[in-house]
Amino acid sequence: MPYAVLRGLGAHLPSRRVTNAELATLFETSDEWITTRTGIRERYWAPPGQSTGDLATEAGRAALKSAGLDEGADVGLLIVATTTPDHLCPGTAPDVAARLGLGKAAAYDIAAVCSGFVYALEAAANAIRAGRVERALVIGAETYSTILSPNDRTTSVIFGDGAGAVVLGCGAGDEPGRLLGFDLGSDGTGKDLIRIPAGGSRQRSSGLPAAEDDHYFTMQGKKVFAYAVRRMSDSSRTLLESVGWQADQVGHLVGHQANLRILRAVAEQLGLDASRTVTNIDKVGNTSAASIPLALADAAAAGTFRTGERLLLTAFGGGLTWGSAALTWPDIVPV
Ligand code: COA
Repeated sequence: MPYAVLRGLGAHLPSRRVTNAELATLFETSDEWITTRTGIRERYWAPPGQSTGDLATEAGRAALKSAGLDEGADVGLLIVATTTPDHLCPGTAPDVAARLGLGKAAAYDIAAVCSGFVYALEAAANAIRAGRVERALVIGAETYSTILSPNDRTTSVIFGDGAGAVVLGCGAGDEPGRLLGFDLGSDGTGKDLIRIPAGGSRQRSSGLPAAEDDHYFTMQGKKVFAYAVRRMSDSSRTLLESVGWQADQVGHLVGHQANLRILRAVAEQLGLDASRTVTNIDKVGNTSAASIPLALADAAAAGTFRTGERLLLTAFGGGLTWGSAALTWPDIVPV
């Protein structure tokens, strides 16, 4: 049976950088509140006219380049994980595949909110393991700036836009970059903690027009915080056990960048030193499905990972959903 191996990593951020100071001119908030409560100093918001699909295409192109592939390469599967697709219908992935010249590649979106990238990674790794495709492109891409309520200072200071992507290929034996295992889960009883009330069939079937604010993203932050720490810690422990790793054998924890305090709490629960926790939330905010590949790219560009070291990825998001992945770090350079 072939193994799925990480072969390329790409990242793309929109051009508009939004600092806490700028947000303090738009909302009743302050740099001090945002930094101490979340760890975020700045984030990027896509300018008008730039969509999730646009960012995803750029990140996908970068990941192909990092893998030494040209546009139009033989990639049999493209998955876009996103909460902010270009349209409710059709999916964003087929358009991205076409723009990258991927021919007839299977292409679909995954909606698992902030856990979406790990869900997509698992699906792509399984397709490779099953021998269905030899290469897959997995993209996490978001434009949360398009769903943030101008009346909600809490969500508006947390979320940012961006896209990150990985190329998976077929490998054999123990080569670095191998994806070794996953743990995924959900708890739909918490579906109302993170949601966009309008836009879907639930609202439309009421036969009533949606209230204007119902088109925006909502979150019950305090409840989500506690849930996120518990689920990411439990999922990480489950995965460590299933792949036979001790926590102290993990080189770096690459968690979903939801909140610096959440990341620190998860690391503490797992007994991992803060120096082994990858953080880039200060620079990009919470970019939901793009968060983990952007954190990977940032850390890899800074030379944080040693080839062959063990990485633990873990994420939590709306649904509620969670997911973790275990891999070793390959000898690649992100683009
Ligand atoms: N600026 C200033 N004050 C703000 C604010 C802002 N941007 N947003 C909220 N506040 C205020 C609240 O109104 C509240 O005021 P009050 O005490 O007078 O009522 C106070 O700050 C505390 O609010 P609270 O919601 O209790 O803060 P918190 O410490 O829980 O932090 C979050 C809020 C959202 C940062 C935190 O709950 C969090 O990070 N949750 C998880 C979010 C997350 O990870 N989501 C993604 C999951 S994938």
